[in-house]
Amino acid sequence: MSSRRDFMGMALGGFAALGGIAALYAAKRTWDPLPSVKAGGFTTIDLSAAKENELAVEKWRGKPIFILKKNASMPKSDRDVVVGGNHYLVVIGSCTHLGCIPAYLPGDLMFKCACHGGEFNTAGVNTFGPPPRPLDIPPFKISGTSLVLGESGPEYEKMLAAGLTQSV
Ligand code: FES
Repeated sequence: MSSRRDFMGMALGGFAALGGIAALYAAKRTWDPLPSVKAGGFTTIDLSAAKENELAVEKWRGKPIFILKKNASMPKSDRDVVVGGNHYLVVIGSCTHLGCIPAYLPGDLMFKCACHGGEFNTAGVNTFGPPPRPLDIPPFKISGTSLVLGESGPEYEKMLAAGLTQSV
């Protein structure tokens, strides 16, 4: 009897482990859809794989980085990263109020922070609630169709000088 219970326990444990792996795989696919290479504090991301109005989330120095390729209906912004004629939102996915990770609502073209209701538009600019400033833009450099996070290129320096983001 006890060996039957052991077998059932093992079988159930196996199912649970499989479920866990499936969940991790699904999360990985949702959170890291763009090809990227990490080396020496830099993350190089191939933007050519990005799909319009589909949020990609990268990780850079322990922070979530939101990358959103804009479609024709989204307003362009001076905060956009422009690569190959395409506009991208590239921001640190950490709410400027108290640091929660906002969710992207593709139907509403906005980010919503569940913690205290803060909202940001597709330029990453705070539009509602307690967040005191736009989502921060990480240092970046454009290299062909790739984005190098962690390096300050001229486009990023220009945004800093114009006060469109603060240095992080
Ligand atoms: S942490 Fe986002 S609104 Fe408070």
